[in-house]
Amino acid sequence: MSKFEEINVNLIQENPFKLIGKDFMLVTAGTKEKLNTMTASWGGLGVLWNKNVSFTFIRPQRYTFEFLENNEYYTLSFYDKKFKDMLMFCGTKSGRDIDKVKETSLTPVFDEEAPYFEQAKLVLICKKLYGQFITPDCFISKEIEKNYPLKDYHKIFIGEIVKAIVKI
Ligand SMILES: Cc1cc2nc3c(=O)[nH]c(=O)nc-3n(C[C@H](O)[C@H](O)[C@H](O)COP(=O)(O)O)c2cc1C
Repeated sequence: MSKFEEINVNLIQENPFKLIGKDFMLVTAGTKEKLNTMTASWGGLGVLWNKNVSFTFIRPQRYTFEFLENNEYYTLSFYDKKFKDMLMFCGTKSGRDIDKVKETSLTPVFDEEAPYFEQAKLVLICKKLYGQFITPDCFISKEIEKNYPLKDYHKIFIGEIVKAIVKI
């Protein structure tokens, strides 16, 4: 079984543009009885309201969306290159149709009521602070609308990063 240790977020060495945008992450929420996870590559890490936060963007039709809505905590987890196939799988299949834990090598672990996976190299445990749907009326650059041919505007979840853990 892998071991993790808590670290101060200021000690995270990785570039968030690469970490999220190129290597991707899993967004995971739920309980021991029922959890779901999906791949995400849009989001951010930063500071707001004097807290370290993450910004995650989830379209409403994702099964994971329901889990984020119904749970106070969720995790963002990051993986080595060798897990790219798993990330593509979790980003193209829905937990409505399959059990992603059963279909992958992922082993769930729980912390602060939020699930993550033993295979992760870095995990951010987030507590929901704020959620709001993107509204097309607010697009200052009209070019953004091209991301929404289905009008399925993302919901932005801002979560306080209550704990960061790394594999040791
Ligand atoms: C590389 C990659 C990045 C993705 N990023 C996001 C994202 O940031 N937000 C989002 O809503 N969906 C994103 N998706 C799509 C979801 O991961 C995908 O629809 C997934 O099957 C949803 O699973 P679920 O229905 O079990 O929640 C991404 C997919 C891939 C492959």
